[in-house]
Amino acid sequence: MSVSGVTIRAVKGNDVSELVSLWNRTLIRDTITEQRFVNWLFVDPDFDPLSCEGCWVAEKQNTIVGFARAIIRSIPNDGLGLEVEDGWIPVIFVAPEEQRKGIGSQLMEEILKFFKSKARRRIWVCGNTGSAPGYIFPGVDKDAYRAGLAFFKKWGFVVDHEPVAMARSIIDFEYERYYKEAWAEGTCEGLSIESVTPETVLEFLAFMRRYFPGDWNIAARAQLRAGKMNDILIARLNGEVVGYCQWDGEHFGPFGVREDVRGKRIGAKLFVEAVRRIKADDGRSVWFNWADPDAARFYKRFGLDVTRRFAILRLDI
Ligand SMILES: CC(C)(COP(=O)(O)OP(=O)(O)OC[C@H]1O[C@@H](n2cnc3c(N)ncnc32)[C@H](O)[C@@H]1OP(=O)(O)O)[C@@H](O)C(=O)NCCC(=O)NCCS
Repeated sequence: MSVSGVTIRAVKGNDVSELVSLWNRTLIRDTITEQRFVNWLFVDPDFDPLSCEGCWVAEKQNTIVGFARAIIRSIPNDGLGLEVEDGWIPVIFVAPEEQRKGIGSQLMEEILKFFKSKARRRIWVCGNTGSAPGYIFPGVDKDAYRAGLAFFKKWGFVVDHEPVAMARSIIDFEYERYYKEAWAEGTCEGLSIESVTPETVLEFLAFMRRYFPGDWNIAARAQLRAGKMNDILIARLNGEVVGYCQWDGEHFGPFGVREDVRGKRIGAKLFVEAVRRIKADDGRSVWFNWADPDAARFYKRFGLDVTRRFAILRLDI
C-alpha cells in the first residue's frame, strides 16, 4: 500500500540534521546528537555507504516524515558469525503528526521486501542478548512507545521476552551489608575477584570467546582499547576465570558468570566490588539499559529499580 504524496527513498548524507530533529521529537526517551546519530548509522560497519541499502526515509512534500533502519550483518558477530538467517530492526519512526496514516506500514513493506531478498528467516526488534546490531534500545519501550508495540503486533510480531532498564543512587549504597552477604560463609572457597591486567588480558579474552560468544566480546575489546583495563573485573574459581563485569563511568555492564557456576554469589561478589569502585571514582549512581528477567531479580536484591520496560519482538518470515 502506498500513502498518497509519500515517497520512500534511501537515506542521504545531507538528511542528518532533519532526521535528528525528527528523531528527537518522536523517540522522546531516546534523544540523540548528530554525532551519535552519524556514529550509529554511517560509521556502523554493517552500513554500506555505496548502496545505503537497509535504510529508508519517508518523504512528503520534500519534508522527511519517517525513517526506518533494517540490518543484516556484513561483519561477523564475534564467535557467532554472520547470523545469516537473522535480520534486525533497531529503529523505525514516523513524525507524530503523520502517524496512523499508513506511512509506518509503507516503511515496513520495504523492510520485509529487503529481508526476504536476503533470505532472512527471523526478524528481531531490536535484538537479543549477545546479538543486537544497531543497538539503541533493547526493544520497544512498553510505556513510552505504545503505538510502536501495537504497530509491530499488527504486523504479526510476537513478544519474545521482556528485559528492563534499572538504576539506583549509590550515595547510600550499603556496601558493608552487601559485601557480607556476597562473601557469606560457604560461598568463598577458592574464589577471588581482581582487575584485568596486561598479564591476564589473553586469559580474559579466551574466557569471553568461549563462554560469551557474541557482541559482549566487542564491548570487552572496546573497553580494553580505550585503556580501561581497571574497569573490568574477573572472578576466579580455583584459579580459573568464571565470571566478569565491566563498566564505563556509572554505566554498568556487560556482566556474566559462567552458566555452570551460577547461584554461588559470584555475581554478587563482582557487582559489590564494581559498585565500590564506581563510587570511589566519584560515581553517584549505577544504571544499565538491559537486564533479562533473571538478571533483573539479581539487581533487585541490591536495591536497583526498574526505570524502563521493553518488549523484544520477533517475526518468523
Ligand atoms: C511505530 C510507528 C512507526 C508506526 O507508524 P504509523 O505510520 O503510525 O503506522 P501505520 O499508520 O502504518 O499503522 C499500522 C497499524 O499499526 C497499528 N497502530 C499504529 N499506531 C497505533 C496506535 N497509536 N494505537 C494502536 N494501534 C496502532 C494499527 O493496527 C495500524 O493499523 P490501523 O491504523 O489500520 O488500525 C509510529 O507509531 C511511531 O513512530 N511511533 C514512535 C516510535 C516507535 O515507537 N518506534 C518503535 C520503536 S523501534
